[in-house]
Amino acid sequence: MIPNEMRTCDTFRSVLVETLDVSRLRALHTFADCLAPNDVRLRFGTPRRLASDEEVLAAFRCQTPENEMIWALAPNGAIAGIATLSLVEPSTLELGVIVRSDMKRRGIGACLLEAAKRRARRRGIRSLLASILWDNRPMRTLIAKAGFVATGPVGLLCEYELALSERIAPPQNGRHRQIV
Ligand SMILES: CC(C)(COP(=O)(O)OP(=O)(O)OC[C@H]1O[C@@H](n2cnc3c(N)ncnc32)[C@H](O)[C@@H]1OP(=O)(O)O)[C@@H](O)C(=O)NCCC(=O)NCCS
Repeated sequence: MIPNEMRTCDTFRSVLVETLDVSRLRALHTFADCLAPNDVRLRFGTPRRLASDEEVLAAFRCQTPENEMIWALAPNGAIAGIATLSLVEPSTLELGVIVRSDMKRRGIGACLLEAAKRRARRRGIRSLLASILWDNRPMRTLIAKAGFVATGPVGLLCEYELALSERIAPPQNGRHRQIV
């Protein structure tokens, strides 16, 4: 029998988003419209409006070269989840994840964490960090399962880190360059 997680990763493609065009911005808005306010708070640490182009672009930090996004795409092309990777030191990325509120608990978050780890290894990154609100038990459970260790509380946040030892080669097939 195929494990659930594999089935999910087969169903939802993880794609590295390097540039945003109009149709991708529209897809981001559709995704933002499907987020419950509490999920937005858990992701960004505070309530946040995600209505205008500016608000959506700023939330997902799409316009700075230090940031990358990995999208989990449903078979119909809709965004099911987003992992954001922000370069905070030369070899350290900070990770943020959010899954569409009506698509949670299908393994999408776990797939995005695996894709983020692969992407970081391909970039030769040595350390992945995440800051998670104390009351965010789902994410704290998920990130511990992915191998991150708690490095300590900072105020209302719990800090997590994953040390990455080996670099991995980029995918060979040019046709799938964007698949993480
Ligand atoms: C946290 C979040 C990303 C998890 O995404 P997801 O796709 O629902 O998670 P998965 O289905 O991959 O879950 C993987 C594992 O995480 C744990 N988990 C996920 N949601 C959970 C919940 N509500 N309660 C308890 N454990 C949970 C479970 O161990 C789960 O494995 P299982 O389903 O086999 O028991 C999602 O709930 C979310 O977007 N929350 C709002 C934003 C947020 O909190 N972002 C994190 C801040 S960086």
